[in-house]
Amino acid sequence: MSTSDFNGKVKRHVAKNFDQSIQIYQQFEEKHHFFRDLTLKLADRIVIKERSSILDIGCGCGISAKALNDRLGCKVLGVDLSHEMVTAGIALCAEDDIRLLEGDGEHLLQIVGDRRFDYALYNASIFIFPDVSRTIDEAYNCLKTGGKIAFSFYPQLVGQGDEDLLDVAFHRLGEFLPRFRVITDYPQASEALAHRCSNICHHRWVRPLDIPFLQDFFSIPAQSASLFPGVGYDVRRNLVKNLFATLEDKAEKGRIVWRMAESIKLKA
Ligand SMILES: C[S@@+](CC[C@H](N)C(=O)[O-])C[C@H]1O[C@@H](n2cnc3c(N)ncnc32)[C@H](O)[C@@H]1O
Repeated sequence: MSTSDFNGKVKRHVAKNFDQSIQIYQQFEEKHHFFRDLTLKLADRIVIKERSSILDIGCGCGISAKALNDRLGCKVLGVDLSHEMVTAGIALCAEDDIRLLEGDGEHLLQIVGDRRFDYALYNASIFIFPDVSRTIDEAYNCLKTGGKIAFSFYPQLVGQGDEDLLDVAFHRLGEFLPRFRVITDYPQASEALAHRCSNICHHRWVRPLDIPFLQDFFSIPAQSASLFPGVGYDVRRNLVKNLFATLEDKAEKGRIVWRMAESIKLKA
């Protein structure tokens, strides 16, 4: 299979997984306000200016777009692969300054045309892109000079002495770790950013190891598919509950680390 056929197949899978996730995704967000908080942490860390223009790549059901508009009055154009996520997002975001479109974040120029943005953001989405260099190149070309590209990443579960608690949990459950936790890992995403822009800054948001939160987060169908690929959803959901229950004794000292990176477009 050629690389482009493989990438196309990955993206069709991703779109289907998120199409099937919408209901549980929204229930999770209603309970935890997590994607909103992660968006605002990212905005805070990279100091997004009020009323700026933002290209929200992998906008999902509009939670990140709405948070940026509500808090900072930003004008947001969101793009997402999943038809169901975008449809739900359009219902959620009635504001004139938010527009959400179905489309591929690896082909942004054909979607945005001549518009240029102050920021191109990936809130919890870049690790799902199979061709990270391509999407970063496209995002770069959609930016004004002086604009920023930034992303927030997939969670790391860290114990004492930097122990990898996801490894520990799989070991304790007696299940094999998935070969790939993410499609694009943090060094690959950072390298793609470094190739386009210099002076990358890294940030972190560190939270306590909250087991019920992790069980809910990874019960979102698309997230559970990253841990137990090829297994039906009902079975996955039980596996997720049991997986994180193995970490109860680690909760006091463990952390969930959300990594972030940003860089500036210096030249036209
Ligand atoms: C975890 S959700 C995050 C959504 C949103 N940014 C938020 O904070 O709520 C990740 C989203 O990335 C989208 N996505 C993944 N690959 C994509 C691609 N190639 N182009 C556009 N969207 C993509 C998925 O469809 C999904 O809706």
